[in-house]
Amino acid sequence: MKNILTAPFVTETGKTAANMYRMGFDERNSGNISIILDENEVGEYLDLSGVIRGIPLDFDAKALGGKILIVTASGSYFKNIADAPEENLGIVRISPDGKTAELLWGLKGGGRLTSEFPAHIMSHAARLSADNENRVVLHCHPTNILAMTFVHELDERKFTHTLWQMCTESIMIFPDGIGLLPWMVCGTNEIGIATAEKMKEFRLVIWAMHGIYGSGKTLDEAFGLIETAEKAAQVYMLTAHLPRVNTITDEQLRSLAESLKLDYREDFFA
Ligand code: 13P
Ligand code: ZN
Repeated sequence: MKNILTAPFVTETGKTAANMYRMGFDERNSGNISIILDENEVGEYLDLSGVIRGIPLDFDAKALGGKILIVTASGSYFKNIADAPEENLGIVRISPDGKTAELLWGLKGGGRLTSEFPAHIMSHAARLSADNENRVVLHCHPTNILAMTFVHELDERKFTHTLWQMCTESIMIFPDGIGLLPWMVCGTNEIGIATAEKMKEFRLVIWAMHGIYGSGKTLDEAFGLIETAEKAAQVYMLTAHLPRVNTITDEQLRSLAESLKLDYREDFFA
């Protein structure tokens, strides 16, 4: 059996968490990460019949029955995950009936799964229905996205359009737009259901006055989406109060999207 601390899915999760911390996206314990893992790969590091404890779930996770995920612990400080992965991460298998998360490794010292586990599992199910290669769901609190939700109309069409206008690369990276939810109580099944509903359509979902969810095939893809949206929001927050002398016009955005043959939300120009 190989040493789990050297497994790429453990080391990369730690590196991404450290990066997100350094970017200012994840102060203290804010944010959470989950990744669906390949069973054969996990089997090189762990005895898959060795369940440490069963964690009861109070929502239906059957859509992910049998799947193994690595996930951050509730309260885990993102700056510490790489140095203490066994305390700050857990590897769980969802039971076939979707009622239990079987702990295979981690959450050492009685740790709990992230409070946003319902939103993660429901989002995975929704993204898999749109793209069967999706593996990653990330949640964090990027400063400028958050700030922008205080001063910009909370309409996902207008919000996406503004972000597209802020950086030339925005429409290239998220031509499918960004879903937007109003402020809701976090850590609940309700916010999980609402997030997953948006995730059927979008890879990025903003929680107004809280943060953002990103998804993708890889950690890089999900993180790259969030970084790009955050950069555009930063440009907005740096310029929104100043006279606008220049802008990227809709015609320019459209011609960029057409020339790159992007599958973009044309209705978001309306
Ligand atoms: P957890 O520490 O439970 O993952 O919660 C952090 C968070 O961002 C809640 O939305
Ligand atoms: Zn949060």
